[in-house]
Amino acid sequence: MNIILFGPPGSGKGTLSSRLNEVGFFSISTGDILRQEVANKTDLGLKIADIMNRGDLVSDEIMINLIANQIEDKSKNYLLDGFPRNISQALELEKYFNVDKVVNLDVDKDVLFKRIIGRRVCQECKKNFNIYFYPPTKENRCDGCSSPIITRKDDNEASLSTRLEKYYEKSEKVIEYYQKQNKLFKIDGSKDPKEIFDTVKKKLNF
Ligand code: AP5
Ligand code: MG
Repeated sequence: MNIILFGPPGSGKGTLSSRLNEVGFFSISTGDILRQEVANKTDLGLKIADIMNRGDLVSDEIMINLIANQIEDKSKNYLLDGFPRNISQALELEKYFNVDKVVNLDVDKDVLFKRIIGRRVCQECKKNFNIYFYPPTKENRCDGCSSPIITRKDDNEASLSTRLEKYYEKSEKVIEYYQKQNKLFKIDGSKDPKEIFDTVKKKLNF
């Protein structure tokens, strides 16, 4: 089964994705892949760093190439986190990938703000924390590997406002597109992560 995780910045795509990994899904996070390109200072990374930092979207051409290279093994149960983000990407994906279900994580804007501004990520193992909801035991250190935890470059008020604007501008058509195909499941993303995971499991029958 191939699943898409859809939702605004901070809706919990990455958090849910980690749990789904544990039950056999192979997750592909376009945001994580792009951040790695930026960290490695590759040609692509240098080209997209500013775009990402200010919260804009990377071009469809780059994104479609990137995702096409990731989806190779048809026997895997894929989980796409962060793709598609607009209707062109959704249509393009259809050409070589069978989308079975789309999980639409629904969370109010004011909650999203606290989640994003409070998020900290471990520099080494990439574990996520949140100073408001899931603070680390030791200040500014990862509970898992003790490395420093840092703020993502696009997790500031100005970039978040652009990211939200882009999301609300493009999301409606994508939601409609999958709704018409009866593939969309709207989930209350403001609940506890374990409850969200259990609901997804039940609704998607696995
Ligand atoms: P991407 O990395 O995909 O960022 P995003 O969509 O803005 O989403 P986030 O990763 O910020 O949030 P999330 O939904 O994963 O939430 P999380 O689980 O971390 O994309 C980054 C950039 O890359 C884009 O802006 C764009 O430039 C580019 N890009 C990527 N894909 C692209 C594409 N297809 N086309 C064009 N450009 C693309 O949770 C957030 C916080 O909340 C954490 O602190 C977490 O601990 C906490 N939290 C999560 N769930 C809960 C819960 N249930 N209760 C309480 N706290 C929670
Ligand atoms: Mg994420």
